[in-house]
Amino acid sequence: MEKNKAIGVFDSGVGGISVLARAAQCLPHENFIYYADTANFPYGDQNPKIIKAGLIKAAQTMAENGVKAIVVACNTATSVAIEDIREIYNFPILGMEPALKPAVEKSANKTVAVIATTLTLRESKFRHLLAQCEDKGNIINLPAPGLADLVEGGHYNDDMAAAYIDNLFAGLEHLDSVVLGCTHYLFLEPIIKKHYPNVEIIDGGSGTVRNLCRILQGEDLLSLENNGEIKVFSSKPELFIPQFQGYYDYIQKVISE
Ligand code: DGL
Repeated sequence: MEKNKAIGVFDSGVGGISVLARAAQCLPHENFIYYADTANFPYGDQNPKIIKAGLIKAAQTMAENGVKAIVVACNTATSVAIEDIREIYNFPILGMEPALKPAVEKSANKTVAVIATTLTLRESKFRHLLAQCEDKGNIINLPAPGLADLVEGGHYNDDMAAAYIDNLFAGLEHLDSVVLGCTHYLFLEPIIKKHYPNVEIIDGGSGTVRNLCRILQGEDLLSLENNGEIKVFSSKPELFIPQFQGYYDYIQKVISE
């Protein structure tokens, strides 16, 4: 039965686990397939052709293993390649978008920084989004090459992460909001909060998960029988599968919040 199939979640590495955990929290009767394109990580400065091929291969693996929807839990892959898999499959395919619109609405003094990969900020999808928000506030684009690599390597709450963030935000003491435009960066939230307690942190993951719930419900695709099983695939499984195991506690913590 279609509704008993799993939900696919894709990222270049561990970043999408931040979205997977929130989806598992909201949808306890769903099974998930997580796919990381570790062999081609990082996507942030990657050749778009390689990202397209990586996402198409991942979607094929997920489809062969039975999915009823895919969440591209990667801003960079969404910007570059989501339309390529939408052309192939007719089940719902959701992507990520830097949460710039809610940020400019909420922001008190309208000074908002967007941290994202170089590629996300360069792509036309972001340019269009920026054009819709530009006149509503002072938006500062902060490409963060190497930051996803730090998170992928487990350095999201240590001195290395703190030094990177301090350097990135140097001279921006007047900021009031930061949009996390890469799913890896959600793991940096505690350290950003600690160093910049007055800055509001906004990310698009919760919005994507809300959309996922709404679409599955609208298309009568919600499962009532599954129990939260997570299958993991990767283009470099020998590296990624052990890495993913380190995130089970995090996923459980988010589910129980
Ligand atoms: N997690 C990805 C994103 O949301 C990209 C990280 C990377 O591979 O550079 O953009």
